[in-house]
Amino acid sequence: MRIVVTGGAGFIGSNFVRWVLDSDPGTSVVTLDALTYAGNAENLAGLDPARHRLVVGDVTRPDDVRGVLDSQVDAVVHFAAESHVDRSISGAQAFASTNVVGTQVVLDAVRAAGVPRLLHVSTDEVYGSLAPGDAPFTEEHPLHPTSPYAASKAGADLLVLAAAATHGLDAVITRCGNNYGPYQFPEKLVPLFITNALDGEALPLYGDGRQVRDWIHVHDHCRALGVVLQRGRAGRVYNVGAHAERDNLALAQQLMALLDVGRDRLVHVTDRPAHDRRYALDTRRIQDELGFTPFIPLDEGLAATVAWYREHRDWWERIKSGAYRAYYRAQYGERLS
Ligand code: NAD
Ligand code: TYD
Repeated sequence: MRIVVTGGAGFIGSNFVRWVLDSDPGTSVVTLDALTYAGNAENLAGLDPARHRLVVGDVTRPDDVRGVLDSQVDAVVHFAAESHVDRSISGAQAFASTNVVGTQVVLDAVRAAGVPRLLHVSTDEVYGSLAPGDAPFTEEHPLHPTSPYAASKAGADLLVLAAAATHGLDAVITRCGNNYGPYQFPEKLVPLFITNALDGEALPLYGDGRQVRDWIHVHDHCRALGVVLQRGRAGRVYNVGAHAERDNLALAQQLMALLDVGRDRLVHVTDRPAHDRRYALDTRRIQDELGFTPFIPLDEGLAATVAWYREHRDWWERIKSGAYRAYYRAQYGERLS
């Protein structure tokens, strides 16, 4: 197979590129990524250049997307997005641009090039917030996004479904819970808390810390994406989760135990506005239709993730210092958009 991956220099995209190249020796990948602050060419370092190529380009620019698509491409997996809720609260413009407009550009380019399949990678945050006793979200749950990030992802999902209905585009959507694992940018809860703990800094817990998230290891998410890409039904949405609900306080305590740091490091800070109370996913569809089940229990996955950040201090220190921005230029000498 020949696959084009948008946003492949980010956290989940780079894990997916590595996973797909490892699992199928016959597959080659082109990554299209704008290398925003969240994109890091180092995440893709060491891959076989005969099977993987990184093209720096922006999904909001039709020429950039058309430039990587031709009749030989078997599938596009669309990860490229602005992904951090807190950033969407301080400025939503880039979210509307990349997540909504960029997705429409990808849809138009996929259709024009006759690419047989598009997998659009979305999030459980489009459903909104659950109360503690509510049933988990099914794929039929109405969309009630509360943050500009979630609203822009919901807009993208609706454009994908509209292209499938109107133009018969073969597109599938996944909506996954909170991911954790290697190569996650240290602005998100898990890598921020691990790297702050390793640096002797405070761990800032928003509000009362009682917000619940449904956690999944990124490697399980990648396997689910592979299954949906190969066998998901066109025009359909699949939830992806690992049935691991934890509130933020419990997760923080688990990380602190793994990192051997004391309670005094945990500081309660001002809550995020419109902070969703709880996410939880009903994953019967992907399990019953496609036979997918996650492998990695949260306790094991968190321990492995802490070990990875301990062993890859260079990687996250270059992010925290900003040095990672120079890597692409040093390796390839080309433009950094
Ligand atoms: P990330 O922020 O780590 O990576 C995003 C990547 O997209 C970066 O490499 C960035 O350079 C690239 N990008 C941003 N704007 C671009 C543009 N205009 N053109 C081309 N590339 C651009 O994000 P992530 O956590 O890896 O998330 C990937 C996808 O998965 C997103 O669509 C996100 O909504 C979805 N998702 C994430 C999670 C999670 O827990 N992180 C959960 C469910 C779904
Ligand atoms: P985050 O990793 O930003 O993912 P999302 O908001 O997309 O779920 O945050 C996960 C949870 O952790 C969320 O409830 C907000 C909370 N949080 C903190 O308490 N402190 C922090 O510094 C961060 C980044 C998040």
